[in-house]
Amino acid sequence: MFDGVFNNSMMWKAQKQQVVEFQLVNLRDFGLGPRKRVDDTPYGGGDGMLLMIEPLAAAIRCAKQNNPKAKVVLMTPRGERWRQALAQSWADSSNDYIFVCGRYEGLDERVMAFVDEQVSIGDYVLTGGELAAMTVVDSIVRLIPGVLGGENSAAIESFSDGETLEFPQYTRPEVFEDMEVPKVLLSGNHAEIAKWRAENSIKA
Ligand code: ADE
Repeated sequence: MFDGVFNNSMMWKAQKQQVVEFQLVNLRDFGLGPRKRVDDTPYGGGDGMLLMIEPLAAAIRCAKQNNPKAKVVLMTPRGERWRQALAQSWADSSNDYIFVCGRYEGLDERVMAFVDEQVSIGDYVLTGGELAAMTVVDSIVRLIPGVLGGENSAAIESFSDGETLEFPQYTRPEVFEDMEVPKVLLSGNHAEIAKWRAENSIKA
């Protein structure tokens, strides 16, 4: 799942520039027995399977070996809601992160002994934590200086100041199916353009 996302666009560029490095750890490699089992039924009964603690602990310890100080982040709907301000502070920090992606109906609660932070990307339940982890990683990586190209592009975007959304933008053609680009943007009057953008950010 991760290869397609990590080897494209911004994330690919960031790795090439060596501002970020990814290592994928496959839980199955730490599975128990000849069948590399990673899940089992819950004590107390109930539907579905839970990820077992032994493979989880072994996988996290393996990831930690490469980087003992890395923070362990569990992706879970019960975590702190992810937002732009967190993406910015994680991008600014020199921490490394280990993202633990749950699967199946849940994880053995004892995994919490290995977890530093819990993060949710919203109040809905995904099949696994992978998409959530990729979402969080993408939002951080694009804020690392040098990754985005135009150093301003991240700053003018939605949510950057935590209050306003990005103003509407247009490119050629000037008229498309009766829809015109606002005249002020063609005026060359930079003060007027800045004013229009500020007003429309607030409006958005
Ligand atoms: N795993 C399943 N659902 C999730 C969510 N909403 N956020 C983070 N991780 C999850």
